[in-house]
Amino acid sequence: MPVVGVIGGGQLARMMQPAAIALGVRLRVLAARPDDSAAQVIPDVVLGAHDDPEAVAAFARGCDVVTFDHEHVPTPILERLLDQGVAVRPGPGALVHAQDKAVMRERLSAIGVPGPRWSRVSRAEEAEDFAAEAGRPFILKAARGGYDGRGVWRIEDAEQARDVIDGAAARGIGLIAEALVPYARELSAQVARSPHGQAVAYPVVETVQHDGVCREVYAPAPGLDPGRSAEAQRIALTIARELDVTGMLAVELFQTADGR
Ligand SMILES: Nc1ncnc2c1ncn2[C@@H]1O[C@H](COP(=O)(O)OP(=O)(O)OP(=O)(O)O)[C@@H](O)[C@H]1O
Ligand SMILES: [Mg+2]
Repeated sequence: MPVVGVIGGGQLARMMQPAAIALGVRLRVLAARPDDSAAQVIPDVVLGAHDDPEAVAAFARGCDVVTFDHEHVPTPILERLLDQGVAVRPGPGALVHAQDKAVMRERLSAIGVPGPRWSRVSRAEEAEDFAAEAGRPFILKAARGGYDGRGVWRIEDAEQARDVIDGAAARGIGLIAEALVPYARELSAQVARSPHGQAVAYPVVETVQHDGVCREVYAPAPGLDPGRSAEAQRIALTIARELDVTGMLAVELFQTADGR
């Protein structure tokens, strides 16, 4: 049976196990602790840290393909695996877009995917210039390290922007500014893509976030116009193809009041 190595023992790795059983794939997980979520249900557990190059390299030996449970595996570690001939899916060139919101925005702008006005911001004056163009309130986001709404700030005034920018600078974190999107609801489009470029889109879902954490998912998104649904799926498939994603990709979208 092919051995698929999963770096990280969280709930997503755990959810791969039933599918792996059905597919005749053997999972091996690199877990931080023996009681990690995935380590409880996958018999083949190796203990080690996802950001330890030696632990990851040793783990990858004997795996036919390596994937990961979360987006925080440093890309240099994965690039080294590729150099050593290990199949890493999705590759670090795709993963970096999930790790770095500035890289992601740059790429999405380049391939013509619709999105809010945005800019890299490192000084208070740049935030002021952005607010003059995009209006207030606007959004500041940590380019890296944010999740579940941590690292996302709604900025009402110049003083608040300065506090966030100073705080980020002190921690060496890059920021991006985004125009506030007055959305009616949030949607998510998930696609799966094979190494040969075959891809399928799942039904578009509605997601409800509380304090930045996804609490509810309605599948399929209630009342979503079929044209809009197809458009969201097309966007996700385009991104998967352009970024050469192998595996699963979820694209978060805003649906605005005028239906766009
Ligand atoms: N430009 C925006 N306009 C309005 N609301 C926004 C904007 N960007 C983000 N938000 C709100 O903040 C939430 C979190 O933002 P985002 O999805 O960018 O970060 P995250 O969920 O913390 O990180 P990631 O999605 O990369 O795991 C969104 O679900 C949305 O509710
Ligand atoms: Mg999000």
